[in-house]
Amino acid sequence: LVLVVDFGAQYAQLIARRVREARVYSEIVPHTLPVAELLARKPKAIILSGGPSSVYAEGAPGIDASLFGAGVPVFGMCYGFQLMAQGLGGEVAHSGAREYGRTPVRVVEPGRLLADLPTEHKVWMSHGDSVAAAPEGFTVLASTDVTPVAAFEDVARGLAGVQWHPEVLHSEHGQQVLEHFLHEIAGCRQTWTMLNIVEEQVDRIREQVGEKGRAICALSGGVDSAVAAAIVQRAIGDRLTCVYVDHGMMRKGETEQVRRDFEEVFDALDVVDAEAQFLGALEGVRDPEEKRKIIGREFIRTFEAAEVRVFGSLAPEERGDTAYLVQGTLYPDVVESGGGAGTSTIKSHHNVGGLPEDLQFELVEPLRTLFKDEVRAVGEQLGLPSTMVWRQPFPGPGLGIRIIGEVTRQRLDILREADAIAREELTRAGLDRDIWQFPVVLLADVRSVGVQGDGRTYGHPVVLRPVTSEDAMTADWARLPYDLLERISTRITNEVAEVNRVTVDITSKPPGTIEWE
Ligand code: XMP
Repeated sequence: LVLVVDFGAQYAQLIARRVREARVYSEIVPHTLPVAELLARKPKAIILSGGPSSVYAEGAPGIDASLFGAGVPVFGMCYGFQLMAQGLGGEVAHSGAREYGRTPVRVVEPGRLLADLPTEHKVWMSHGDSVAAAPEGFTVLASTDVTPVAAFEDVARGLAGVQWHPEVLHSEHGQQVLEHFLHEIAGCRQTWTMLNIVEEQVDRIREQVGEKGRAICALSGGVDSAVAAAIVQRAIGDRLTCVYVDHGMMRKGETEQVRRDFEEVFDALDVVDAEAQFLGALEGVRDPEEKRKIIGREFIRTFEAAEVRVFGSLAPEERGDTAYLVQGTLYPDVVESGGGAGTSTIKSHHNVGGLPEDLQFELVEPLRTLFKDEVRAVGEQLGLPSTMVWRQPFPGPGLGIRIIGEVTRQRLDILREADAIAREELTRAGLDRDIWQFPVVLLADVRSVGVQGDGRTYGHPVVLRPVTSEDAMTADWARLPYDLLERISTRITNEVAEVNRVTVDITSKPPGTIEWE
């Protein structure tokens, strides 16, 4: 067990995930946990995360320096690095010299931590203070133009740290640095696999749902809910019923595809046709957050009705007191809906922030701490079909949040056609796995003038939004080949009568988000 002490970094989950990638089990604990309790959990190593900008700031979280003498290896990153330096008598300078973003770092002495790394490489920095002098007994391993002490280690005591964020992808060799600490300095064994996650969750679900409890799983057709369902099925067998809601905002051919794929894996799939219900509730609504809230609410109402239909005929002693709802909520959904510590709401993901207050279900969310690609790895371990595991993400609210303006059946049909063309051409170009997601957005309230076959047109624009990403927390616009873009543009304007203009969104995330609403 490796404990990641969270100093309020957005990155604590990312660190935990990198530790899992190094095949070591990890958990996150708050920085308010006393050192004695940290140690009582008998961790093999402790990682101190990044955090607020200055150890000198008023109310800045600290850690009792006795931690560093307890004989447990400790690794500090960014703020955690400064805490270690300060706690052991080093010098942290409040110099005002800042480093943000990609920064070149020079290895002056590789030691164990930076062994085999190029002498000069680029890492992701975000700090105002810097360590001016390492504590006694430490070897300084790296520096930058601004920071004389950018990394240090004391192998004898199992202590090490870096000023940068090795957990983010923009830091070159970050994973290697973390692994050097875990494997070489702390001596952690590499035994953790994705199957351990499954086993752990199966135990947890059995405990939550009990001997009799029954659960409904909200299958969306995507990988997350499929993996969540597969895990819950392992835990409670046929006491799980999968429900798929066709809310009328799915893509072309999607419901049929989902039905085929899923009936192979989960024998009972309850498909609910709820188009009229959802579109009725969305009538006249243009505000994105309002749409999301309405869709979230209608989803829950549909599941409640399904629950009554599926389990209602059972005698009370056969069904338990609580109704459970399984959802494939991932960690990024939790963070962006404002669920992470100290994070603000970007948008209410329908399965998190969009839940109604009078929710009748208790939630079962086995993937709440995982990132998408980890979920894919779990899905592969569970033997789910690769069409399911590698399906590109599609948001629960569906095309409803890709129509800018009111959602109507007619607008959905337009978008469905344009979207189908874009997806078909992407697949034909063999780029499905290179592109994280390829939303097509209909600017339904915008019209522009065009000319087609000697006649004036006055149609709608669509926006192509192909992005690359690792976990949807950040994304970049995908540089699709021009000839592919041309084919998509020509086909959409020829085949979808209402669309006379095709544009490409070239905004990264941040500052944009992947979806437009
Ligand atoms: P954004 O637009 O915030 O999206 O950059 C990040 C990722 O989340 C997906 N997304 C959702 N998924 N329910 C979901 O299940 C939602 O309400 C929702 N909103 C966005 C989005 O497609 C992207 O993959």
